[in-house]
Amino acid sequence: MSKNSLEYLNTLREKALLGGGEKRIEAQHKKGKLTARERLTILLDDGSFEEMDMFVEHRSSDFGLDKMRIPGDGVVTGTGKIEGRVVCVFSQDFTVFGGSLSEAHAEKICKVMDLAMKIGCPIIGLNDSGGARIQEGVVSLGAYADIFLRNTLASGVVPQISAILGPCAGGAVYSPAITDFTLMVKNTSYMFVTGPNVVKTVTHEEVSSEELGGAVTHASKSGVSHFACENEVECLEHIRRILSFIPSNNLDDPPVQKCVDDDNRREPKLNTIVPENPNKPYDIKDVIHHVVDNGDFLEIHELYAPNLIVGFARLGGRPIGIVANQPAFLAGVLDIESSKKGARFVRFCDAFNIPLVVFEDVPGFLPGTDQEWRGIISNGAKLLYAFCEATVPKLTVITRKAYGGAYDVMSSKHIRGDLNYAWPSAEIAVMGPKGAAEIIFKKELEQASDKEKALAEKEAEYREKFANPYLAARRGYVDDIIEPIETRPRLIRGLKLLENKVVANPRKKHGNIPL
Ligand code: HXC
Repeated sequence: MSKNSLEYLNTLREKALLGGGEKRIEAQHKKGKLTARERLTILLDDGSFEEMDMFVEHRSSDFGLDKMRIPGDGVVTGTGKIEGRVVCVFSQDFTVFGGSLSEAHAEKICKVMDLAMKIGCPIIGLNDSGGARIQEGVVSLGAYADIFLRNTLASGVVPQISAILGPCAGGAVYSPAITDFTLMVKNTSYMFVTGPNVVKTVTHEEVSSEELGGAVTHASKSGVSHFACENEVECLEHIRRILSFIPSNNLDDPPVQKCVDDDNRREPKLNTIVPENPNKPYDIKDVIHHVVDNGDFLEIHELYAPNLIVGFARLGGRPIGIVANQPAFLAGVLDIESSKKGARFVRFCDAFNIPLVVFEDVPGFLPGTDQEWRGIISNGAKLLYAFCEATVPKLTVITRKAYGGAYDVMSSKHIRGDLNYAWPSAEIAVMGPKGAAEIIFKKELEQASDKEKALAEKEAEYREKFANPYLAARRGYVDDIIEPIETRPRLIRGLKLLENKVVANPRKKHGNIPL
């Protein structure tokens, strides 16, 4: 067959499309996994995929590799569209050398990453790989580093999303770790620096792959994964949904959608959502759902540090990033994990021009040796730093408690909050009335004949004086005290007002966030 014939081209294409062949495709399906190409079909708009480098092959000849050359070399790369917007993609093909990363395989990935940076579009990586191509030795390690460098340079310039759809082990985990969002699938994907066998040898722990580095583990314990999806289809649809809220690059505005929800909708339930007893919990997600467009909220990191809720929604059609204390979990206290979770989300939104809306009900930072010894100071400072440096529009609604350092941290006026509102139920103070009374009336309480009664009286005195929003309002620390049902219209008007906000931070190479 002439190499100049169409027949030759089509034969080669067919070979590339088959990847590692029918048997391996069958094995992939048996594991409950889709192939690299099937995944792209689900991820991208119909017919939008334009493949690149289909004919790239590895260049190794060691260990018999010269007899095993498969066009594409274990990764499908190219461009496509999601809701009509261009994205760059790579999808590792486990049926070809276990999706392992050779020099050529990495070059293909780097090429689409470079293209994404040139044209300013998101990069989506579908990972399913046995790691470094063992036969290529150090060359494949260098090739990984080429990807890590690009991930780092692209950070904050174009959104980067990683789906883990199979193994992701060793140093390979560091590419997804640098990207903005990582999604995993229960029971078919895992990530770890060293697998169960090495763990057993070194620490004598017996642990399964799923327990050590499965989707639920990383979505709840380590926070490495932002989503633990039920299956691959759900995972790929989640990626499309994340992208619907974020711009294509850091110079672009987030995608505005036509809003069918009334901008002036006043939700009566908001007026009764905060319980009269300040120690009673309520679900801040109910507040969020009542306020945002059509109650549509995409929660990120749902299983990790649920005392702080983060995610995307829209107000008047405009995407916003929501950061909210959750009184229904640990009373909404800020701890190490929630501070890290919040900080990373705030920095993402700030990097990509997504306004921040904060719902605040926080009793303070979590006390205790565990928190202190593990560094609540430097970790709590991450969230503080992130809010301080953020220059996107920042709107805050204090629904109830805003106590202590946490008051400052949660996008307070003092750290450039643009519009800060309080509900009448707000308590803005150094600490809760009971703790405050115990400290400032210590001597009187010691001398009192009925200590409990005396404490209750002093607590009531402190509450009356400080546990309300009016002291803060008198100082201008909140811009207004609003009726809860007004929250949606006020926030939408605020966002419009701040649409053309310009604030610049001092010029510097980069700050030194307390990592
Ligand atoms: C070359 C590999 C490979 C690799 C798998 N294969 N991993 N080939 N390099 N890293 C090949 C297998 O030989 C096999 O080929 C095919 O892919 C499918 O693999 P199986 O083992 O049959 O599949 P499965 O049973 O599902 O096991 C998957 C696996 C296992 C758990 C990923 O293959 C595995 O442990 N691979 C090695 C993982 C590893 O140690 N990688 C290096 C990590 S260090 P045939 O022809 O038989 O079908 C690393 C460092 C990166 O990545 C550092 C960056 C800084």
